Amino acid sequence: MKEMLQQLRRVAVDAILNAADAECLEALRIQYLGKKGELTKLLKMMGKLDPSERPAMGQLANQVRAEVENAIAKRRAEVEQMLLQARLESETVDVTLPGTEQKVGHEHPMYIVLDEIKDIFIGMGFEVLDGPEVEQSDYNFTKLNTDEGHPAREWSDTFYLTEDSSILLRTQTSPMQIRAMEEKPLPIRMLAPGRVYRKDEVDATHSPMFHQIEGMVIDKGITMADLKGTLNAVMKKLYGEDTVTRFRPHHFPFTEPSCEMDVQCHKCGGRGCPTCKGEGWIEVLGAGMVHPKVLEGCGIDTSVYSGYAFGMGLERLAMRRFKISDLRLIFENDVRFLEQF
Ligand code: PHE
Repeated sequence: MKEMLQQLRRVAVDAILNAADAECLEALRIQYLGKKGELTKLLKMMGKLDPSERPAMGQLANQVRAEVENAIAKRRAEVEQMLLQARLESETVDVTLPGTEQKVGHEHPMYIVLDEIKDIFIGMGFEVLDGPEVEQSDYNFTKLNTDEGHPAREWSDTFYLTEDSSILLRTQTSPMQIRAMEEKPLPIRMLAPGRVYRKDEVDATHSPMFHQIEGMVIDKGITMADLKGTLNAVMKKLYGEDTVTRFRPHHFPFTEPSCEMDVQCHKCGGRGCPTCKGEGWIEVLGAGMVHPKVLEGCGIDTSVYSGYAFGMGLERLAMRRFKISDLRLIFENDVRFLEQF
């Protein structure tokens, strides 16, 4: 009996200390110490012993149980430690490694200027409208007092989308004047930026796609003085208080009188240089008092209401604002250029 107990102790402790994981340990515990385990089986044999031997055997059996239990506890702690170690190793993060750089872009220079212009006009009570780039000829031309036969309607100038020339890529944002007058209650103060399209060859100052910002005010008693005062104030806000402008007479079918506004060249201060092509001035917008025919076509009573409209060239304004010499840079999206703003 004594030998059997000692043998059990040896075999059990040996197996336990080599157990690979918690499941093996549990199986061994059941095998040796469980209700139907090997130690229990041995204890059942105690009854067959000589009574004088029983106390010593009982003591030994308890000792064996305690040692087996200790071995299990010891191995369990080891196995848990091993498991933790393995997890730590597999989940290690080297916080000293450089991270993956997330490049965050920024606003395109032209949109920086557009936002500045929108802010200035919103501050003056204008609302910003959005309109279709695919437009009806009626809105792009006819309702703007530009009848059939006008040179601007030539196939060589305009991207038509239908054979009958009724639908086109808008050549100007001015159709938004009509859309605003047809849809909005009076008075109107609106700004309508967007893309326009013309059959122009690409060069330093031309592109078949460019951006305009249309603006229009219709109210009682609006005069050319409102137009000049507003646009002068906007240019000073955009380019600085010392900005000098001039208005030249011009012709547009849908305004009367019409004008163009120039800003004095920032490079030469008006003396003439390559940037302003020797003229001392840079043209930035067309404008005028909305033609009575156009107002009446939209059902507006010209004995009560009048208004002005203007169309700014956004690229020109951005080029002056950031001293950009070539229009193509704005559309090429070379990051070496864009990163500078
Ligand atoms: N639409 C004109 C152009 O593209 C500019 C303009 C707008 C002129 C509004 C007068 C009034 O040249």
